[in-house]
Amino acid sequence: MTHAYHMLLLLSSLLALTALQAIHAVQYKASNTAGSTPGGTLFNNEIGIEYSERTLASASEFIWQTFGQTSLADRKDVELVNMFVDDMEGVANANSNNEIHVSARYIAGYSGDVKTEITGVLYHEATHIWQWDGMGQGQAPKVVEGIADYVRLKAGYAPSHWVKEGGGDEWDQRSDVTARFLDYCSSLRAGFVAELNAKMRTSYNNTFFVDLLGKTVDQLWSDYKAKYP
Ligand SMILES: *[C@@H]1O[C@H](CO)[C@@H](O)[C@H](O)[C@H]1NC(C)=O
Repeated sequence: MTHAYHMLLLLSSLLALTALQAIHAVQYKASNTAGSTPGGTLFNNEIGIEYSERTLASASEFIWQTFGQTSLADRKDVELVNMFVDDMEGVANANSNNEIHVSARYIAGYSGDVKTEITGVLYHEATHIWQWDGMGQGQAPKVVEGIADYVRLKAGYAPSHWVKEGGGDEWDQRSDVTARFLDYCSSLRAGFVAELNAKMRTSYNNTFFVDLLGKTVDQLWSDYKAKYP
């Protein structure tokens, strides 16, 4: 009797847990609208829908971890992420409808390991889905791009054409330069990027660097450059 009762208890708590997970599970859907183009064909042969959806799921887990978003209340409320491979210019973009668009032409023209490259691109774009944007204030757009490349860097997908550590003339010159600089800032304070992202939920100001590290962004940039003479 007690055995059956305990089994029932276990079963019902398992069911409750499964239901809870189902409610909070994010869906990732990929599709290829450029199937008849060289890049679309290459995508199907070398990368594929299933791999893309799995990559978006693992990228999202990695991003929540990087942002220290252990509770659902910390995260952006997104239920579905749609990815498309399109016959378009550029590399890729993410929009406010939680869509990621990847260029089939870029895939076709890429020389090197295209699967690894697109994996890195997906880490960058998935970051745009989950990060806060500082309401676009001040240099927020530069920081947003820098954080997306920082995530790609920390996930181990920095491409070889990126600037090396210590490279660049200004901290906000280009997203890879900003990413390396943010990595330096993280060496001064663990979880720096998580805290920076959290602050960007409602606004952005360069003074966030002072708040977190006690120095202006320009002073930090000078310190960083001095480390790599
Ligand atoms: C950032 O904060 C400073 C000091 O409070 C203020 O003068 C400046 O206008 C702010 N910049 C932006 C972009 O909000």
